[in-house]
Amino acid sequence: MPPTLDSYDDLPYESLPLADTHPDYLRAIARLYGVEAASAQSCRVLELGCAGGGNLLPLAWYFPNSQCTGVELARGHVDEANALITALGLNNAQVLHRSITDPTDDLGEFDYIIAHGVFSWVPRSVQDRLLEICGKHLTPQGIAYISYNTLPGWHVRGLLRDALLSYCAPGGRASERLAQAHTLFDLLEPALRAQPNLDAQLALKEIEYLRRAAPSYVYHEYLEDINEPLHFSAFMQRATSAGLAYLADAEPWTMFPDTLGAEAAAPFAAIPDRLQQEQMLDLARLRKFRRSLLVRSNLKARTTPDLTVLETLSYFSELSSDEEIDLSHPTQQDFIGPSGNRYSVSQPLTKAALMLLAMHYPQAMSWDTLQQRAEALVTEHGGSLAHDALHTYRTELFSLLAYQALRPTLETETGIDSLPERACAHALARAQAVRGRIVASVRHTAVELDALSTTLLSYLDGTRSVPELATLMATALQAQGQEVDSAVLENACMQMLWTFARQGLLTG
Ligand SMILES: C[S@@+](CC[C@H](N)C(=O)[O-])C[C@H]1O[C@@H](n2cnc3c(N)ncnc32)[C@H](O)[C@@H]1O
Repeated sequence: MPPTLDSYDDLPYESLPLADTHPDYLRAIARLYGVEAASAQSCRVLELGCAGGGNLLPLAWYFPNSQCTGVELARGHVDEANALITALGLNNAQVLHRSITDPTDDLGEFDYIIAHGVFSWVPRSVQDRLLEICGKHLTPQGIAYISYNTLPGWHVRGLLRDALLSYCAPGGRASERLAQAHTLFDLLEPALRAQPNLDAQLALKEIEYLRRAAPSYVYHEYLEDINEPLHFSAFMQRATSAGLAYLADAEPWTMFPDTLGAEAAAPFAAIPDRLQQEQMLDLARLRKFRRSLLVRSNLKARTTPDLTVLETLSYFSELSSDEEIDLSHPTQQDFIGPSGNRYSVSQPLTKAALMLLAMHYPQAMSWDTLQQRAEALVTEHGGSLAHDALHTYRTELFSLLAYQALRPTLETETGIDSLPERACAHALARAQAVRGRIVASVRHTAVELDALSTTLLSYLDGTRSVPELATLMATALQAQGQEVDSAVLENACMQMLWTFARQGLLTG
């Protein structure tokens, strides 16, 4: 029987769907860099340190013709993953209770190897083995995604980690040490608030951030024995020794010096060596975390994106705006992402494209369709297409892609125009809703449920109309001592159903 990892058994890591690790996304980014990776519809995925399968198993569920394998050492995580595999009857997924250091000869090759939140948190021997697995088990056009804490930026977080490690007694149970961490936050906060200096303000900000973060993240990032941030150049040196080469960053904007601003960019843009340039960009940005995409070192990849590829991809996006969009003039206007980030664009075609994509989310549109429909919308609103309109449109779309506000895809999910009369949530959504508060959307994002939406989801078996659902919800709320007007409840049910539908949680 393999050993386990006590700290993870004591305080399990909440593993979530991570859009940046999705094979479809990785494939689109790889294509921009000249690599044609396998389709998400039919690929082999390996996730190392997959925790309870929150990232891996939705992939297996949404892509039944793909094969998903997880390797995980903590017994509790493996049990959690296997329970979901059984509940969903997945015959294309397995989570193996073994260490990354165990032999992998039985596993074969993989089109995608994912290791998120693992590399910096395991001993060096495991890190080396992780890279070795990628070097040996990637298919010829395969992509490895490895994330890790980076220097020098992570030093900022290290400040609080040092304080916590010195205060929280070593060796205790994870949950007890976490409680001690909160005691230290309570002690430090008033003292830090009383000091106007920048260091104290920085520490205060970090404490605020940690108070909002998931407890499992706080423990495993700040109190786990191992947390080894490293420079990008050191990481790449070790990856190179394992037969791997750098393809790109999963957050594309980070690779471009011009994102530092016109004044700062020039000396960075002048650095001829790409890896050196990216290392320097980390210094400039004080970058704390990286998501690196690697390929086999004998693969010929591009060092800059091929922008003609943009026309071969489809796109989806979920941006909204709190102002009236002007489709007639190139005025600068903000669009807002689901997590509150703002993106400024000015070209009416771009604005029209974002409006169309938001309307049809989660459906994607091909480059040509999007452009044609954006042109039609602009014309309809009295806008004219200036001679440089298409050039600006293209530049703005690429920038939105780089900032991940616009997602490239090769999978055109179908959207919905109307709600089914008797909504049915798919099996994954219902299984995840009874297990916790997070459900994986069709676009591999974490849909957070509150008590009300969890209850509604549990009723969506395809037999109930909206008024019937509202009646059931009213009964459930009354049992908790809450009285809600039935019209209000019916309206709330409709809204929640639309949210579920937009996240691809309903069948049919
Ligand atoms: C910080 S968690 C990240 C989990 C998941 N990848 C995510 O991002 O949500 C690290 C995971 O790696 C697992 N792990 C640590 N050492 C391991 C090893 N030697 N072999 C396999 N899994 C390991 C832990 O049990 C834990 O589930």
